[in-house]
Amino acid sequence: MKRFTVRACGPIKATLVIPGDKSMSHRSAMFASLAEGRSVITGFLEAEDCLSTVNAMRSLGAHIEHMGQGTFAIEGTGGHLAQPSGDVDCGNSGTTMRLLSGIVASQPIRARMTGDVSLSKRPMGRVIKPLTEMGARFTAEGGDGKPPLVVEGGSLKPLSYEMPVASAQVKSAVLLAGLSAQGETSVVEPAACRDHTERMLQEFGVTLDLGTPDSNGRRRIALKGPQKLRARDFAVPGDISSAAFWLVAGSAKEGSEITMHGIGLNPTRDGIISVLRRMGADITATPSDPTAAEPSGTIVVTGGKLTGTVIAGAEIPNVIDELPILAVAGAIASGTTIIRDAKELRVKETDRIAAVAGNLRAMGAKVTETEDGMVIEGGHPLHGATLQCFHDHRIAMSGAIAGLFAEGETVIEHVECVDTSYPTFGATLASVLGR
Ligand code: S3P
Repeated sequence: MKRFTVRACGPIKATLVIPGDKSMSHRSAMFASLAEGRSVITGFLEAEDCLSTVNAMRSLGAHIEHMGQGTFAIEGTGGHLAQPSGDVDCGNSGTTMRLLSGIVASQPIRARMTGDVSLSKRPMGRVIKPLTEMGARFTAEGGDGKPPLVVEGGSLKPLSYEMPVASAQVKSAVLLAGLSAQGETSVVEPAACRDHTERMLQEFGVTLDLGTPDSNGRRRIALKGPQKLRARDFAVPGDISSAAFWLVAGSAKEGSEITMHGIGLNPTRDGIISVLRRMGADITATPSDPTAAEPSGTIVVTGGKLTGTVIAGAEIPNVIDELPILAVAGAIASGTTIIRDAKELRVKETDRIAAVAGNLRAMGAKVTETEDGMVIEGGHPLHGATLQCFHDHRIAMSGAIAGLFAEGETVIEHVECVDTSYPTFGATLASVLGR
């Protein structure tokens, strides 16, 4: 078993290298595999989740060559996927399974998609429902919409879909299926969620209508099928969700100054910066090319004192993956931090509300779980503890950062799962601890 052993550290003064964005890496491999021609992807996140997508696309007929660290050359299929010869293993990755559902739905093939223990418990009904309405056939072998999922694709009807939950994965699955349907497919979001699919599809030559809200003023994304993707090179910026751990550590530890270059600054993902600023953090974010399809730039965080805040409503989808580490920030801060409207956290890699609340309580924090969030009474000193991470990378890394603020030793067990999104986290943590 791999574990992190962490103690409180002094001010962190460092320039940290943050690996590629997970959401964009998945999409770059998928879109280049669907496109006609050869794309070169750089900055790709070579972590388990995104490598599951690479292997899945290979099994569906794309030629993907590893050219060097973070660089893949992809010869696309021109939109004609091959029948996979065995199961398509999605590992721990919900993004792989949900987006692939949309892609396979329109192909005259049958694919059985499997996942690990955590993925096998995650709800897939949210993609099965709209894709079935479009004409695909699904069997959820796990029962109750749970994996393994068998998809039998074919020719699809377009769909106008109002998403019941704000999910970029559901939005993406429907739009990807819509690429092959004859006519207009549209998705209405209950609250804006990450828009990498829209931005990157446009980069790969797809025409989208992003400017026509629905009658209630909600964002509506539409495309007219059929449309083809054209190959193009794409540079994946650093993952703001990975930078988030150091944003919290740096902003709460007085005397720190942490610089991170090339971090994705997409406005549907940068909510962590506004939340931390509201808590009193000193963060500057300087875009290097604000006109790029996916903006990125340098983030500098300087240490100080944090105070509690409320994180709720339309802000939630923007910080959905950062809520565990923001809960840690709330425990270190003075005053009360309230997280609500975040029921989705209960169906992530684990129930992240229960996991983070339990771990923080084990370290001496005062945390009350609610159905859709938690209330954290900050300012209670943290002490070391032995923490579990329930196969969830972000719970493991959040526990490690909490340990940097605790008296005594914090041990996080079974941290192999960190390889899902941030394989170099352990090495960066060791350097911060002066090891
Ligand atoms: C993702 C979307 C989010 C996020 C996940 C990655 C994506 O999930 O939590 O880590 O790449 O589209 P939902 O869309 O289900 O909220």
